[in-house]
Amino acid sequence: MTPPAAAGAAPDLAARVVRWQHRHGRHGLPWQGTRDPYRVWLSEVMLQQTQVATVQAYYARFLQRFPDLQALAAAPLDDVLALWSGLGYYSRARNLHRCAQVVVQTLDGAFPRTAQALAGLPGIGASTAAAIAAFCFDERVSILDGNVKRVLSRALGFEGDLADVSEQRRLGALAQALLPAARDMVAYTQGLMDLGAGVCSQRRPACAQCPLAADCVARAGGQPERLPIKTRRLVRGRRSHALLRLHRGDQLWLVQRPPRGVWAGLWSLPEFDSAEALQAQVAGWPGRGEWLPTFQHTLTHLDWTLAPLAWHWPVRGVPVPDLGPGRWVTRDEALALALAAPIRRLLQADGG
Ligand code: ADE
Repeated sequence: MTPPAAAGAAPDLAARVVRWQHRHGRHGLPWQGTRDPYRVWLSEVMLQQTQVATVQAYYARFLQRFPDLQALAAAPLDDVLALWSGLGYYSRARNLHRCAQVVVQTLDGAFPRTAQALAGLPGIGASTAAAIAAFCFDERVSILDGNVKRVLSRALGFEGDLADVSEQRRLGALAQALLPAARDMVAYTQGLMDLGAGVCSQRRPACAQCPLAADCVARAGGQPERLPIKTRRLVRGRRSHALLRLHRGDQLWLVQRPPRGVWAGLWSLPEFDSAEALQAQVAGWPGRGEWLPTFQHTLTHLDWTLAPLAWHWPVRGVPVPDLGPGRWVTRDEALALALAAPIRRLLQADGG
């Protein structure tokens, strides 16, 4: 058991973060400068697994189409998924839509004002709830996303193993004890995020730019990148499949993915267990085919290799065999649907 890192180990930590955020933190992000929980919630959900640079364009498009909670709640799920297409982790979009409906139908369209109540809504975890409550309602509650855990672990010299829930809770209690007064919660919360994203990076922290460097316990030990400690490593799987890009004139055959699993509910190309299985399927088909370059898609738990076969079916003559549920669409119609990003790229590629 390591000695508990005392909150006193980092004198005026919050004041330093707040001052640093005012002078050096990010100020022009599109979700800053608003207290509208709809906008903050949307940004936090988009940012859960995605970089700021990617989120910005999606955020603007999404708000244009769904300017408020009521518009989002009233929209068909397919429209929401189509606008999410390319951001990945589609359960976020499904939960977003469901959450909008719950807030409109059961809470008169008003988000709850505390992190605890927010965390009861679909798709809002503890850290997202805390961010919304701090940014919109000045609640004194600490966010603990990956970036912030790193900054605080290092500053405090927190040696607990964050793979262990009880250690996470212990760090959470320390984080809570460090919070500033309510009026500084917005700058403090954003400041910790900004430090984690731009200064206190995982492998090469830029300690010279950090307002906490003078008292940072991890830095004093000479190896700040050693913290935080997290022992359990993700075991990644590998999978290979083949995809059929079937063309008939200017039309393309698409199938909808099952409601669970990778790319759940999105439109995609028919998938086969292997190139051999697909080759066997098309053996004897009229028309012509060509294998396209294999590509790799990386998911959280999986390295997925996909081998696409483009097949051009003659427009006249033999009818296409029964391919199961799916539909013929033009390329433009396909691109308007909710597609997984790699499939979209494949359809946009030459000849798609
Ligand atoms: N990541 C999560 N929330 C964020 C925010 N509000 N600003 C920048 N990056 C973030």
